[in-house]
Amino acid sequence: MSFHKSKWWKESIGYQIYIKSFKDSNDDGIGDLNGIIEKLDYLKDLGIDFLWICPFYQSPMVDNGYDVSDFFKVDSSFGTIKDFKNLVKEAKKRKMKIIVDLILNQTSDEHIWFIESRKDKENPYRNFYIWEKGREKDEGLTEPTNWASFFGGSVWEYDSKTDEYYMKIFSKHMPDLNWCNPFVRKKMHEVAKFWLDLGVSGFRVDAAAHLGRKKKLVDSKLNNNDKYKKDWRMFSNLKETFIYLDEFNKEVFSKGDILTVGEVGGSATVKEAIKYSGIKKGSLNMVFNFDHCFCNNVYDVKSKDDKIKTNLIGLKRVFNMWHTKTYKKAWQPLYWLNHDHPRLLSQYGNEDEPFLSGSMLAVALYFKGGTPFIYQGEELGMVNYPFKKIEDFNDVSLINHYNHEKEKASFNKEDFIYQEGIRSRDNARTIMSWDNSKYAGFSNVKPWFHLDKNYEKRNVKNALKDKDSLYYFYQKIFKLRKDKRYSKTLIYGKYQQLLKDDEDIYCYLRKEDKEILVVANFFNKNKEIEIKGYKVKDILISNYKKENKNLKSLKLRPYEAIVYLVERDK
Ligand code: GLC
Ligand code: CA
Repeated sequence: MSFHKSKWWKESIGYQIYIKSFKDSNDDGIGDLNGIIEKLDYLKDLGIDFLWICPFYQSPMVDNGYDVSDFFKVDSSFGTIKDFKNLVKEAKKRKMKIIVDLILNQTSDEHIWFIESRKDKENPYRNFYIWEKGREKDEGLTEPTNWASFFGGSVWEYDSKTDEYYMKIFSKHMPDLNWCNPFVRKKMHEVAKFWLDLGVSGFRVDAAAHLGRKKKLVDSKLNNNDKYKKDWRMFSNLKETFIYLDEFNKEVFSKGDILTVGEVGGSATVKEAIKYSGIKKGSLNMVFNFDHCFCNNVYDVKSKDDKIKTNLIGLKRVFNMWHTKTYKKAWQPLYWLNHDHPRLLSQYGNEDEPFLSGSMLAVALYFKGGTPFIYQGEELGMVNYPFKKIEDFNDVSLINHYNHEKEKASFNKEDFIYQEGIRSRDNARTIMSWDNSKYAGFSNVKPWFHLDKNYEKRNVKNALKDKDSLYYFYQKIFKLRKDKRYSKTLIYGKYQQLLKDDEDIYCYLRKEDKEILVVANFFNKNKEIEIKGYKVKDILISNYKKENKNLKSLKLRPYEAIVYLVERDK
């Protein structure tokens, strides 16, 4: 396949649904499959072609569904297999596709395989998970290695029944599957085939980078005071992972015309991303990298005194690296956030300027090449939740970290709540704002989680009534991406960064049969710039009235964003 070869998943717009918070159809306070069906027309009108739905499989919900106890069942809180089939059917009627999470790294500790596995060392399922003996040290029996888990503490959990440790890179309730075992791999192929048979059009492959583990159990040499070392390379992007995914591709993915997008945390490099998703040899269509999620200081803020500011130069460097180095080599997904991140306006925008900053951020991202993935509520300008106390949070990862941190002498609870308040995954998991009724139109009973603090004003009902809303701006962007006059350039064109050293303005060209210029002022201030060598032929979209067309002295207002059709100025 060549980079330019037309494929539905290259030319589509995706929308991510965190099902638990999207729409409750039966008034139990929990979003569900039938709730999604109710909102398909809304999504269709926005311009969405496919939905990625977060896990709805049977689960004890330690990690809101990423801890699966039966891959072949729908959790009763979300509906039934029949509801799922109906969703696929209703989506199809509207020419929309469904993709689902494929959770390969782990199961729940309540999965029958793990229940069997932990019983005794001879159990046929023992080898479905990763069991190791502890090490005898002066202080007694300790973990086989000093590696930290993503959710806090060690990657090893002691199980007294058989006096061994099992590996879990997330929660202790999510034991890691042993991918060295061919039976595990075969079982997981069956899981994927089962959902394909039910009509899904692809998968978001959860935690795809971690299937292979360092075989030799050596301690990390990271030199810091942490007891457990955050050395993600011990179980990220290793050679075996690529082999397992290649096999998966051969056995399952390659058999259908499907979309596959892998989540490659653990800091996959561009080279590794091309290895995963290269147009020629990759086993996945594309991979989500996290680099652009860390270009401001929300993950480093210590206390209320630290000001939050975007490092635009850093963000531009990241975008430029990914979009030039992967060009013609690997496809890119375009996303600002997902269910593991703070809200976009609260991280890179301005909560008090939802339309201007929100539309600017949309312009900055969605005129690039790749497949857009919108996160629910992004089109409304939903924001972070004002978390005040530890009980306000839900995320298992956060609670684990809290339990570890609070043991340290230096721990300050107030600072911890402030830090997590601005970066917690829980921010993205608040309830979708449908209207201004008591529970935001999500349900008639109290929802399982918090409402957006602005839901009474900023909700779908109001957005649809206001022709100048962020919602319609997003809709217009998606129409432009599909407009025959521009789509070739916008979807397949080359990316070229301009004004590389400007600290305030993000500016790039897209080039194919047309040349399209994108300009975005990231900050709440006026700024004049000069773009040489081009003149304006037309304006495709802009977030201010009375647009400026003089590229020689382009006076940009706060958060101003404009997309021009341009030609060379000889
Ligand atoms: C991925 C998911 C995240 C989950 C983790 C464990 O990172 O996006 O929500 O907690 O995998 O499955
Ligand atoms: Ca429900």
